[in-house]
Amino acid sequence: MSTRKVGIVGAGQIGGQLAMLIAERGLADVVLMEVPDREGLAAGKALDIMHATAVLGIDADVRGTSRSEDLAGSDAIVITAGQPRRPGQSRDDLLRINLGIIQQVAVQIKAVCPKAFCVVVTNPLDAMVYAFQKVSGMPTHMVVGMAGVLDSGRFRGLVAWRLGLSVQDVSAMVLGGHGPTMVPLTDTCMVGGAPVRHLLPPDQIEDIVQQTRTAGDQIVSLLGNGSAFFSPAASVLLMLEAYLCDRRRVLPAAAYLDGQYGCHGIYMGVPVVIGKGGVERIVEIQLDTNQQAAFDRSVQAVRQTITQVEAFLSR
Ligand code: LAC
Repeated sequence: MSTRKVGIVGAGQIGGQLAMLIAERGLADVVLMEVPDREGLAAGKALDIMHATAVLGIDADVRGTSRSEDLAGSDAIVITAGQPRRPGQSRDDLLRINLGIIQQVAVQIKAVCPKAFCVVVTNPLDAMVYAFQKVSGMPTHMVVGMAGVLDSGRFRGLVAWRLGLSVQDVSAMVLGGHGPTMVPLTDTCMVGGAPVRHLLPPDQIEDIVQQTRTAGDQIVSLLGNGSAFFSPAASVLLMLEAYLCDRRRVLPAAAYLDGQYGCHGIYMGVPVVIGKGGVERIVEIQLDTNQQAAFDRSVQAVRQTITQVEAFLSR
């Protein structure tokens, strides 16, 4: 149907919602993959989405499978497989469980679509995207993690709602790891071209920063049996559109750093240009002393999880 194809590994809440968004927009054909004993979940969601698109009068092609060969020919692959957080669990608590899953998926993806643009969503994000790239050996500019678009979206939303203005007119970036050490950049947060500090007092900005950092936790405790899925799926959609439609958008994402921001050999949330070449460029913005210190703290936290990844992979 479409000339483009997206494979989604994991037909849980994010996978299903993302498949629906892609189909609704006519962005690409979708293959939703699950492990064999959950194939029904992938097939059932795919069929339900096909019915929804029929109702809406949209021509779509969404299929469920448990065979990784069905992902062959995908332009992009999204990895959502893994356990979501439960109340009281940190993203890092999932590390061991989800590493095993990512390791298997990375081998499968490398075998069936080594040229695809891969977006990793599984938590703990910065460690999982690192592990996926390490195990698959796929080029670092074609493997990226989704977190910054979501964290920045939450930040932008909180600013807009506080001011009673359109979120369209709020631009902001959240850098660093996808966890409590994330770094919402307040100085460069703009509302209709004016710095947010001209419109909100410092204590309110600080409150928004804290709420941004804990937004994911808030949803985990409200839902009681999983983590956010509408907003993560929407965030992946933006990244896929940038790649598939060669939008060359500047989006924050977990990208492989090789000297940028003073970091070597790790994935960190930074602004990147996403276009048809994948991560075409890492945008280096100058951080002030406080921001750099916060970024460095986040790097340390991510490095700790990467040490665990390395220990796991070298068993
Ligand atoms: C969140 C999860 C998806 O931030 O990490 O909601």
